[in-house]
Amino acid sequence: MPSALPDGESAPSDGRLPESALRGLGRRPFGVYVHVPFCATRCGYCDFNTYTAADLASSPASPQSWLDGLRRELALAADVLGAPPPADTVFVGGGTPSLLGATGLAAVLDAVRSSFGLARDAEVTTESNPESTSPEFFAGIRDAGYNRVSLGMQSAAPHVLAVLDRTHTPGRAAAAAREARAAGFAHVNLDLIYGTPGESAADLTASLDTVLAAGVDHVSAYALIVEEGTALARRIARGELAAPDDDVLADRYEQVDGVLSAAGLHWYEVSNWAAGPAAWCRHNLGYWHGADWWGAGPGAHSHVGGVRWWNVKHPAKYASLLASGASPAAARELLSTSDRELERVMLELRLVDGLVIDALAPQAQREARTMAAEGLLDAAAIEGVHGRFGRCVLTLPGRLLADAVVRRLT
Ligand SMILES: C[S@@+](CC[C@H](N)C(=O)[O-])C[C@H]1O[C@@H](n2cnc3c(N)ncnc32)[C@H](O)[C@@H]1O
Ligand code: SF4
Repeated sequence: MPSALPDGESAPSDGRLPESALRGLGRRPFGVYVHVPFCATRCGYCDFNTYTAADLASSPASPQSWLDGLRRELALAADVLGAPPPADTVFVGGGTPSLLGATGLAAVLDAVRSSFGLARDAEVTTESNPESTSPEFFAGIRDAGYNRVSLGMQSAAPHVLAVLDRTHTPGRAAAAAREARAAGFAHVNLDLIYGTPGESAADLTASLDTVLAAGVDHVSAYALIVEEGTALARRIARGELAAPDDDVLADRYEQVDGVLSAAGLHWYEVSNWAAGPAAWCRHNLGYWHGADWWGAGPGAHSHVGGVRWWNVKHPAKYASLLASGASPAAARELLSTSDRELERVMLELRLVDGLVIDALAPQAQREARTMAAEGLLDAAAIEGVHGRFGRCVLTLPGRLLADAVVRRLT
């Protein structure tokens, strides 16, 4: 969830979309994202659109006004989309959705169901902070219809968790993953952050061992990003902590990939590993393939048929706009064909299936072959194997330089 809103044209207050955006709706996968903008405390590295109780103390915003607003936004979405397709995927993210408890998350899913309905085999995920989960919580959300859980773990090393301002104990995330599995969740993800100042290779080994022992079928591992305006950025600026080092980050990425691959969790997107295609996150694949999704909640982004828009960020403003019958959209942009092609290159190149080389301009195709010779793209895949079209697929060195590879192709 980007923190800064890009410039866009103003969005109509009734939320209407151009006719052209609605064409083909339902023939592409359709996802629903719900943003829960609440956290118990703010982690020092995080700049997501989320608020603690103290942040909202002098504002009328509350979980109840947020839920009222969400119900109104989902009803508006169903109206704007006309005959909305049932949701193929639902992703309740944040912030900390687990702070709503199983009852609150059941209410969220009921609201999605009553506005859109769910496809028969819908993937329904909720993010959770290990601290606000329990066996009863997992049993409750499973009963409510969730079938995938994503937990923020970050590290198993106590001193790394301390630098990240994580308040859970090192073992709590893995214990929560086990509780989720015991409650019947076949699909459980753990998020890791690598490259935190002071994290050694041995600390990361301990984190990876803990993840594997928890028996999850999906791992997301992100290089620590020092976001402007965060407590972490201030500590680095004051010289209290060293900034993450690019060479160390590359070593750590290779370590993550080596350990997870050896254990049967293979990369399918640069920062995501899974036990097989059935464990891939279909909701995120929708983003990466340019599908349609409605993002509901403060600051949430949406994309339908080449129109992208984003909501106001503050929960009080969000709730008051919806209470007055207006759309919560702050601004929107209409993507041109060339914008969409550029995004397609940027996103699909990061996937294990890569990008069909024919989608590139002739000059970019020549550059792709140069990068295959340099070892950044898979040389066999680019020529096409087993009757498949030639594809640009990142090698391990290419994954380490994914942004640079994209720049050379666009
Ligand atoms: C919404 S949180 C996950 C759920 C819950 N809020 C939690 O933290 O346990 C999404 C994930 O984004 C990742 N993340 C957030 N800020 C980051 C940063 N600055 N650098 C790298 N990863 C980050 C973390 O791995 C985090 O688990
Ligand atoms: S990482 Fe998760 S728990 Fe921490 S502030 Fe961000 S959203 Fe909240």
